[in-house]
Amino acid sequence: MSTNTIAINQSMDRFNDHDSVWLFGYGSLIFKADFPFIEKRPAHILNWARRFWQGSHDHRGTPEAPGRVATLTPDAGAVCAGMAYLISPQVFAHLDYREKNGYLRLSTDIFFEDGGQQEGLFYIAREDNAAFLGQAPELDIAHQINAAHGPSGRNREYLLNLATALRELGAHDAHVFAIEHHLLAMAPG
Ligand code: SIN
Repeated sequence: MSTNTIAINQSMDRFNDHDSVWLFGYGSLIFKADFPFIEKRPAHILNWARRFWQGSHDHRGTPEAPGRVATLTPDAGAVCAGMAYLISPQVFAHLDYREKNGYLRLSTDIFFEDGGQQEGLFYIAREDNAAFLGQAPELDIAHQINAAHGPSGRNREYLLNLATALRELGAHDAHVFAIEHHLLAMAPG
């Protein structure tokens, strides 16, 4: 089951009259920037933890065999590292389509690693969306990811690419790296 969030996100017009706005990416938006951007800067947000708790029925899985992709869960004191992109609001249409499987476009404070902060946007899939799968042991998550593939490619590649990108940013994410560890011990499904 999945929920298309395009219409909800189109009603989020907070930044529509801005020339540009910062977008914070923490999942595939870090390693697959398939949209025009003006500038990018390593950044983090506070009080959110990255988790592979969101189902993917349209990119890295299918309705019959969903994959698992990253979302954020509230976690007081947590620091989530990622990449911030300065984009034109014209790019929202592309992003809303890409993130349509349960992700909402919401505002957040973004802290740049080279200093300063700015209010911007991120896409999060909350636990009340129909594609949400929720918590599971990291080994079980790895097995599901290893077996899944969809129109955007293998689910395994999503996780391994993200782990590599996080290392390049100098970021440690125990959840992502634990799933990576399990995946690397498995033959690709
Ligand atoms: C993001 O990368 O910020 C959102 C989740 C995803 O598209 O993987």
